[in-house]
Amino acid sequence: MSTGIEEILTHPEFSKEDLVSLLSADDTGTRKIFETARAVKLQYIGNKVYFRGLIEFSNICSKNCYYCGIRSGNKKYKRYELSDEEVMEAAAFAYREKYASLVIQGGERSDKKFIDRIEYLLREISKMSEGRIHVTLSFGEQSPETYRRWFQAGAQRYLLRIEVSNPELYKKLHPSDKHHDYYKRLEALKSLRKEGYQVGSGVMIGLPFQTISDLADDLLFFRNYDIDMVGMGPYIEHDATPLYEYRDQLLSQSERFRLSLKMVAILRIMMKDINIAATTAMQTLDPQGREKALMVGANVMMPNLTPVKYREDYLLYENKPCINEEAEECKSCLEARIHIAGDTIGYDEWGDSKHYRKRTTDEGKK
Ligand code: 5AD
Ligand code: SF4
Ligand code: FES
Repeated sequence: MSTGIEEILTHPEFSKEDLVSLLSADDTGTRKIFETARAVKLQYIGNKVYFRGLIEFSNICSKNCYYCGIRSGNKKYKRYELSDEEVMEAAAFAYREKYASLVIQGGERSDKKFIDRIEYLLREISKMSEGRIHVTLSFGEQSPETYRRWFQAGAQRYLLRIEVSNPELYKKLHPSDKHHDYYKRLEALKSLRKEGYQVGSGVMIGLPFQTISDLADDLLFFRNYDIDMVGMGPYIEHDATPLYEYRDQLLSQSERFRLSLKMVAILRIMMKDINIAATTAMQTLDPQGREKALMVGANVMMPNLTPVKYREDYLLYENKPCINEEAEECKSCLEARIHIAGDTIGYDEWGDSKHYRKRTTDEGKK
């Protein structure tokens, strides 16, 4: 088995069959995949990790995804939205600490008040930091016009996970209505790219009904869509969601974690110069989850800057870490973790996806 893996790892481009074999590799084969991924990371992008200060702006969401704890159908959480002051305070912390980059994330909404507010905050952050902080947004599917307005107000990157690349599987994980349409999501990804964003996407790993063949297709999806950044992690059950019913059919947590690490490593080998996040969900299933992801190819981390009083209400899945840790604590914690993984932190650097830089003519100002 593992000799087969070594041979596959020499292929300049992986086929679907190659990916299925890699994802099914035994322990010896998996070690080879991890070693190769680490070497590719060091050769192509080095050992620098970039911080993105994460602001969980609001848990108000108009969608009702079957896997997500903050779905509109879950009445258990108090719904919140950060005030302007809270957002600016978190942004100022990021600026002071030289994170150079923020991710503002929240439920999907497209009312005018919300769109205007995000636009306003983007301009304020840009003013406060004299354009030195780069902002990534993650507010789901929006119209091309909204994406354009936010881009013009200073957002440079956007994360829109496809969640699963198989349209049939997508249908099983979302209500069947016009708010949860796979093809609309694809259109949104394309329009983000057209508007000039660095585009990030991602998937969940180990979902009910998901097969190894689906995961191989997810990796091919990232390559075919020429994605600049990827954030993916294990699916984690949440008791206030419809998918909880299938919890007995899932892979064990350690198998899901292992599979997620393999996905990160294989993706690094396939797409050598993109940014890959070591996601919080990885750490939920393994105490060293994020460091392990860094060791096999990830190069981005997202320290949480959300005011602690809201964190209990932004639980997309169970056992999410850092619920009580202030921004300062997460910072030192992550510094130590990154050090253990043998990497360094790119303070005061935007850490743009090298892939994006290559595919655009704009060389950037930094
Ligand atoms: N387990 C893991 N990840 C989840 N997300 C939502 N619910 C879960 C869950 N139960 C992820 C989705 C979404 C991102 C913000 O969080 O991929 O895009
Ligand atoms: Fe809303 Fe995103 Fe959760 Fe779906 S996954 S319910 S869009 S926050
Ligand atoms: Fe938040 Fe470790 S990253 S406590």
